[in-house]
Amino acid sequence: MSIIFDKEHNLFHLKSEGFSYIMQVLDIGYLTHLYWGKPIRNFSSFHKSLHDAHVNLDALAQEYAVYGTGDFRTPTLEVQQENGSTVGELKYVSHVIMNGKPSIAPLPSTYIEVPEEADSLIITLADQASGLTVELTYTVYQALNVLTRSAKLINKRTDGEYLKVGRALSFCIDYEHSNYELLQLSGAWCREKHIYRRELVPGLQSVDSKRGFSSHQQSPFIALTSKNTTEKNGEVYGFNLVYSGSFLAEVEVDQFYSARVQMGINPFDFAWVLKAGESLQTPEVVMVYSDKGLGQMSRTYHRLYRKRLCRGLYRDTERPILINNWEATYFNFTETKIEEIATTGKELGMELFVLDDGWFGKRDSDNCSLGDWIVDKKKLPNGLDTLAQNIVNKDIRFGLWFEPEMISPDSDLYREHPDWCLHVPERTPMSTPSQRNQLVLDLSQEEVCNKVIDMLSNILSTAPISYVKWDMNRPLTDMGSAKLAKEQQREIAHRYVLGLYHILETITTKFPNVLFESCASGGGRFDPGMLYYMPQTWTSDDTDAVERLKIQYGTSLVSPAITMGSHISASPNHQVGRTTSLDFRGHVAMAGNFGYELDLTKFSEEEKELVKSQVAFYKTIRPIIQFGDQYRLLSPFEDNQTAWMYVNEDQTEAVVFFYRVLSKPHTLFTKLKLDGLNPFYNYQINDSDVILGGDELMDSGILPENLHGDFASCCWKLKAVKCCKE
Ligand code: DGJ
Repeated sequence: MSIIFDKEHNLFHLKSEGFSYIMQVLDIGYLTHLYWGKPIRNFSSFHKSLHDAHVNLDALAQEYAVYGTGDFRTPTLEVQQENGSTVGELKYVSHVIMNGKPSIAPLPSTYIEVPEEADSLIITLADQASGLTVELTYTVYQALNVLTRSAKLINKRTDGEYLKVGRALSFCIDYEHSNYELLQLSGAWCREKHIYRRELVPGLQSVDSKRGFSSHQQSPFIALTSKNTTEKNGEVYGFNLVYSGSFLAEVEVDQFYSARVQMGINPFDFAWVLKAGESLQTPEVVMVYSDKGLGQMSRTYHRLYRKRLCRGLYRDTERPILINNWEATYFNFTETKIEEIATTGKELGMELFVLDDGWFGKRDSDNCSLGDWIVDKKKLPNGLDTLAQNIVNKDIRFGLWFEPEMISPDSDLYREHPDWCLHVPERTPMSTPSQRNQLVLDLSQEEVCNKVIDMLSNILSTAPISYVKWDMNRPLTDMGSAKLAKEQQREIAHRYVLGLYHILETITTKFPNVLFESCASGGGRFDPGMLYYMPQTWTSDDTDAVERLKIQYGTSLVSPAITMGSHISASPNHQVGRTTSLDFRGHVAMAGNFGYELDLTKFSEEEKELVKSQVAFYKTIRPIIQFGDQYRLLSPFEDNQTAWMYVNEDQTEAVVFFYRVLSKPHTLFTKLKLDGLNPFYNYQINDSDVILGGDELMDSGILPENLHGDFASCCWKLKAVKCCKE
């Protein structure tokens, strides 16, 4: 059992192979945080004797902080009673320790397959005066080295009065000191997940999304790192919220230089009416401690997300190499053109053709037809099913693009149901070009969710579709729902996410053989909430290989390569106009879930041969990339060079990519030190006669060769040839 309760001292010890997490219930009932870090053998000495008179709530390390009784830091919870009071005081009531992990459905979360994989602790706290009960759930994945937390609020009043929840974050943790840096992943459309680090300073520092989805601008992930933490050294505390809506992640450094970290549903424009007997479940946060730098933290997230967040048939299946027509044709295509692209893709070894936007309604641009999911016979005169069947007959699978959460003002659906979009009475909802001329369906309405489910079910069951690209191209504005009472209007953003999760659960259960890829103008919703339903995400609309180095590097902090859609597109690149070689683009795209997104029919025979060899090569390294451990070697945020590598579980195979952005005069190449290999194994390099020891490759390194000009790259494939354990 990885959770121990010391009854004598009222101490909880949550322990995995790589960390200890210790809490105590004080004599006066407060639950206090004592320690999170390297594993501790004897924990009784952590016990504190604090009595009423000695407790300074403003200095007490809390596990779930409330407002109004003496803790003046930002609370985790804020609840208003019908009498107007927002004062709260949570005290211990009881706890339960169990094997396994309780589900927090309807919210997504990490899961277990057998109870032995994890142990859970549920601590019940209550505020006697308001009738609010809070259940804190902690789960320890013993072998995977992960702690998860979430909270559930329950209105236990017996007089029927409601409670108005203004803030209900998922967790709180108070650190003794603030001698850390805050790491965040921030960006913009086409510039997702760039890494930023800053020192903590007194006061609040936060990242959030108010956009209704997790967003391009900020990610629901932060880490506290000890100063000078690198890939291999330093302490890291990672926090990743399994949620796809508006979120808040904040760190507050107080007068004693202690640091409070909290994360959860964004309290901005949020108010939830909790009627007597009702409960509100907060999203799960996945907490990873690493004493060996950022690399170890990422590999821990990767293993958990690959094995116990992603689900379904494709979780353990190599993902198909796809060819998508978006950057080849945009909205302008014919049936013949589509079939030609698919046929060429098949000839070059690709396994899945994806028909992107523009196949339905009268969608020749982005200003109409979302909601009218009926094939456009002008473009596809023989219908969708015939096209799909023709493509499948060529022995390449068929996938289709949808944007199910949206509705165009110029659509029959909107003309029929103007109340189905998010909007406020007396205001015209915004659908400007920057919002892609479209409106958002009000997924807080059950009827609307059912319509989306019916539409998708009909299409997916009438054509041989084995992949869906689920797009979402604008933030949520005009937060108003025709169906919710006025005092519940500030519940909409969260209800939207719940509606979306309901649709996704229904559709993915109904169509277990379909591979789903999520997309929100690229990586605008690349978060663990979406990965629970769809095991891969389109990483960015920026397909330029140089830009992708940073985007993929930052994304890899939390998300494994198998989840990262990564395609070769045309050169000059459509987003930034840069010209790069097919080789360079290939090496960048292969460091993920590989595909193409260009007009293959325009390629010369020579280019086609190169593509064919790229596809064949990727197939040989695919299991290593998609199921192996990733080691980041050189950061594009620090240098002109980037490198990363992937090693299979038994360390017998590895693949290394090295990229140099600009060529510079008088540059001596230095050896690249590898990582994650077995020092006692010898590795054959690129099927050649060169055989080098794992120790040599990691301690001395390997020299990048034959690099000419800007945007140059190389790749080594390593295979253990014999073991020489000494
Ligand atoms: C945004 C996506 O990120 C693109 O890949 C493409 O599918 C377009 N939408 C289509 O409208």
